Amino acid sequence: MADDTLLSIREARKHFPIYKGWMRKQIGSIKAVDDISFDIKKGETFGLVGESGSGKSSIARLILRAYDVSGGSILFRRGDGSVVDITALNDFEMRDIRREMQMIFQDPYSSLNPRMRLLDLVGEPLVIHGWGTPAEIRDRVAELLGLVGLRPEYVMRYPHAFSGGQRQRIGIARALALNPSFIAADEAVSALDVSVAAQNINLMQDLQEKFGLTYLFITHDLGMVEHISDRVGVMYLGRLMEVGPTAEMFTKPLHPYTEALLAAVPQPDPRGNRLRKRVPLKGEIADAMNVPTGCAFHPRCPYADQTCRTEVPALRTLAGGRLARCHYAEKLDLTGVAAS
Ligand SMILES: Nc1ncnc2c1ncn2[C@@H]1O[C@H](COP(=O)(O)OP(=O)(O)OP(=O)(O)O)[C@@H](O)[C@H]1O
Ligand code: SF4
Ligand SMILES: [Mg+2]
Repeated sequence: MADDTLLSIREARKHFPIYKGWMRKQIGSIKAVDDISFDIKKGETFGLVGESGSGKSSIARLILRAYDVSGGSILFRRGDGSVVDITALNDFEMRDIRREMQMIFQDPYSSLNPRMRLLDLVGEPLVIHGWGTPAEIRDRVAELLGLVGLRPEYVMRYPHAFSGGQRQRIGIARALALNPSFIAADEAVSALDVSVAAQNINLMQDLQEKFGLTYLFITHDLGMVEHISDRVGVMYLGRLMEVGPTAEMFTKPLHPYTEALLAAVPQPDPRGNRLRKRVPLKGEIADAMNVPTGCAFHPRCPYADQTCRTEVPALRTLAGGRLARCHYAEKLDLTGVAAS
């Protein structure tokens, strides 16, 4: 694993068996994550996008070992520089790694226990890991609240006393408690108003700079991804379709699925200030139990031909180190969006 890499996901798979009848006969499987490989560099924000059901959350869950892989490996560089394959660790070994990897959840309402005070909510990871005395934990919680822009004297309040944006900040404070190096944010700000979401994104960026954090940022919102991510991975039906630096991918996508997602992002009309009409993505995402043959995107792809219907394209490295899973990535001249 390269020195500048924090996480290396290698040929990771997560297949969920599907059973039917009283005999519980397996009739198929959902390939939520299917042969996914990508690296996340130290200190970067890696954005993961794709329509609902494409496998984004499943990847985060594999990285944090909320799910066990069906195959492949996930290498993580620890604070002391050593590299571990987290898929091979037992529960005891994983407990230690959990200090270094945290998750911020989508719904700030349901992810915080309403019967716990901020002291207990934010301090819980410290207590679980035997971090210090009650007085030290109280001081640390007050410090963490300060870091996320909440008043330290709020420690004895309950979550219902806070707005959605503030609750998200409580979740961020909790995630920071044990000084992690990696945070996965799964649709972390999707439930918030645009202005509140923007404030929390700015907070996350400040914290990233301050503590050298590495983020996996999962979202449906391509505008958000463009704003926050250094590099982006585009997922479709459990597979990565394209990976590359954000600005390059947005101005010049290499995969027809990326082009289609970008066409649905509202754009300023070059002749005026109105927003250009969104072009909806053609057709429905395929049934995850019944992934199309050849290129999984072929039923919706305007460039598909006979080869696409029968041959599965590999994720290939192209000029400039960008990756795309399309037979014709070099030949197609795809349209992106103007740099913003
Ligand atoms: N525990 C599970 N058991 C069975 N199938 C699952 C499970 N978790 C996820 N799946 C399936 O795996 C696929 C990927 O789901 P996942 O939640 O990772 O997608 P996602 O990209 O995060 O979607 P969304 O944008 O809606 O959050 C879906 O088809 C989903 O139904
Ligand atoms: S491989 Fe074929 S169907 Fe798939 S994205 Fe490329 S052109 Fe479209
Ligand atoms: Mg999800």
